[in-house]
Amino acid sequence: MKILLTGGTGYIGSHTAVELINRGYDVEIVDNLFNSKITVLDGIEEITGVRPKFYHVDLLDKNKLDEVFANSHYDAVMHFAGLKAVGESVEKPLLYYYNNIGTTINLLEVMKKHKVNKMIFSSSATVYGDQDGVKLTEDSQTGVGITNPYGQTKYMIEQILKDTATANPDFEVTILRYFNPVGAHASGLIGEDPNDIPNNLMPIIMKVSTGEIPTLSVYGNDYNTPDGTGMRDYIHVVDLACGHVMAIEKMGPGVQIYNLGTGEATSVMEMIRAFEKASGKSLPYKITARRPGDLAKVFADPTKAEMELKWKTKLTIADAMRDTINYLKHYEKK
Ligand code: NAD
Ligand code: UFG
Repeated sequence: MKILLTGGTGYIGSHTAVELINRGYDVEIVDNLFNSKITVLDGIEEITGVRPKFYHVDLLDKNKLDEVFANSHYDAVMHFAGLKAVGESVEKPLLYYYNNIGTTINLLEVMKKHKVNKMIFSSSATVYGDQDGVKLTEDSQTGVGITNPYGQTKYMIEQILKDTATANPDFEVTILRYFNPVGAHASGLIGEDPNDIPNNLMPIIMKVSTGEIPTLSVYGNDYNTPDGTGMRDYIHVVDLACGHVMAIEKMGPGVQIYNLGTGEATSVMEMIRAFEKASGKSLPYKITARRPGDLAKVFADPTKAEMELKWKTKLTIADAMRDTINYLKHYEKK
């Protein structure tokens, strides 16, 4: 089975490429390298022994994308490509709407032309909006209280995919709503390496540990949580990648939606302590004001994925910290 990964040199795409190749899938990647590096292919090759065919193409360039599809027949597409910085999306909404929605529409049109009818889409827990402190199921309300354009693009793309499936009964789409991906491949050869300034907790912790950022700002310790800091459902990126393999094996008619999370919530202070324990170093931090739009506690009910995809997370926060530190060591050596 041949699968095209858009955004496949990115953080989640590269880990998914590894898991797919390890299970015998034929993987090709298309990415414009806006937020990833070509050297990711070296990491994938070193881990799997296979270097995926790579197209340096912007999905906004429909003619070039069409050429990619004209070269090989894909059985399915995993659509990871997109911009994901929440703060930047507030400052540059049009860039986010244009890139995330434009790429998806181009992709759907080109897929239709080339009769590729299976897609897995990278959605996000952000579609659940401002629901706080409740275990989110796939049936929880979506689209209400989304505080930023990035989140809106995910919600809108979900709608576009549902409408596409209604119009074309041959189209099969699985929407995966990721919670908070963390960690790296156990080899330390691939991990999270954003080109831009990160605003997610884990990449910031990484930069504080290497001294690139002096102090971690903990955004508020007055939330209604046991230690007062915000809690999230952090999922190891390799577990997340495995979820894609299970999802592709279970594709069926119409639209399927799954939460990919652990079902557990961990606080910012617990994340700091876990990193310190794994690294043996203390992490400088200070408590600052809450970040606007943040919620106290966001976590998944992953039961549906467990039951239907036979998928469950196996790796822990401690594993994620160990693998992140291992990745940092490899990275520093380069
Ligand atoms: P990433 O930035 O590491 O990877 C995305 C890739 O898409 C990058 O390599 C980037 O260069 C590429 N890309 C962006 N625009 C493109 C375009 N126009 N044409 C071609 N390539 C383009 O991000 P990630 O963390 O791997 O996320 C993958 C997907 O999962 C994204 O859609 C993201 O929104 C979604 N997601 C991520 C998280 C998270 O916290 N990492 C959470 C929920 C959902
Ligand atoms: N945090 C800090 N300091 C930082 C960064 C984050 O204290 O420097 C805290 C936040 O307040 C929050 C937690 O760490 O409590 C996690 O924050 P992230 O920015 O890493 O993640 P979010 O849960 O806010 O958002 C992420 C993605 C969204 C996605 C959402 C899904 O950025 O795209 O997860 O749940 F939609």
